[in-house]
Amino acid sequence: MGRSERERAEVPLVGGTANRGRVHRVGDTVRRPLRPTTPAVHALLRHLHEVGFDGAPRVLGIDEHGREVLTFIPGQAVTAPAPFWGLTDDALRSVGRLLRRFHDACRGFDANGHVWADTAPGPFDGDGIIHNDPNLDNIVFRDGEAVALIDFDLATPGSAVWDVGATARLWAPLRPPGDTHDPRRGRELERTRILADAYGLDDEGRARLAAAASGHHAWMCTLIGDGARKGVPGFREYWTPDTRARAARTGRWLETHAAAITAALLDGR
Ligand SMILES: Nc1ncnc2c1ncn2[C@@H]1O[C@H](COP(=O)(O)OP(=O)(O)OP(=O)(O)O)[C@@H](O)[C@H]1O
Ligand SMILES: [Mg+2]
Repeated sequence: MGRSERERAEVPLVGGTANRGRVHRVGDTVRRPLRPTTPAVHALLRHLHEVGFDGAPRVLGIDEHGREVLTFIPGQAVTAPAPFWGLTDDALRSVGRLLRRFHDACRGFDANGHVWADTAPGPFDGDGIIHNDPNLDNIVFRDGEAVALIDFDLATPGSAVWDVGATARLWAPLRPPGDTHDPRRGRELERTRILADAYGLDDEGRARLAAAASGHHAWMCTLIGDGARKGVPGFREYWTPDTRARAARTGRWLETHAAAITAALLDGR
């Protein structure tokens, strides 16, 4: 294959669920389906580029097949089976720092006049911008360090702590230890503290994080459950009886451990 053919070749990018089979790499670009919220997300990504934030893809336009064209970010996302470097405390710290830089870079962006994904429920609707889907496979790493957020499909106005809570749930991870099958098991609260410290979360945020994690979990379960019922292929395959039972266990664990999470976050402050 010559150079130009290689640049045009479509390489499927795996790891995601919502757009499974519909995300491709072409040369140094990524092609993804358009959504009603694409203009809003592109305005946000353009703002991030303008203020010098390099932790997100850049918008290059729309291709001849009606897909968005974004820059491909060199590195690796933490896709299953999770590589050990994605589960270390240093990796978690870098995720906290990246999330904070993202929130800070969104300040000054005017979200008005755009169609966004559903916002976080009150009291987390807030006035900042949230990524809203900081899953392991939505963060690109290089040399063990988180360098970029990708997949802004669910980005929307909201309060920063909603994102931090979601990140803690996914990365600590906040769930019954018996449902974690890697070295993070049993270190949920300690790692939540590590994330909050790296992010630089203030005491008010720490007091709200448990509710944000629990709220994001319930919100995401509704989104996926609705998607599965409507027949979104990735969601239908993912939302099995086993997954639903595990999600229910996580929901209960988050509620019964809210006070312990808050105590771990505020201890010694
Ligand atoms: N701009 C990018 N740069 C580098 N890699 C990317 C980029 N966009 C996507 N990828 C890779 O492709 C995978 C799937 O992409 P993406 O997250 O957009 O899919 P998705 O189905 O929308 O995911 P989700 O289920 O999280 O909504 C990512 O996990 C990542 O490995
Ligand atoms: Mg994704």
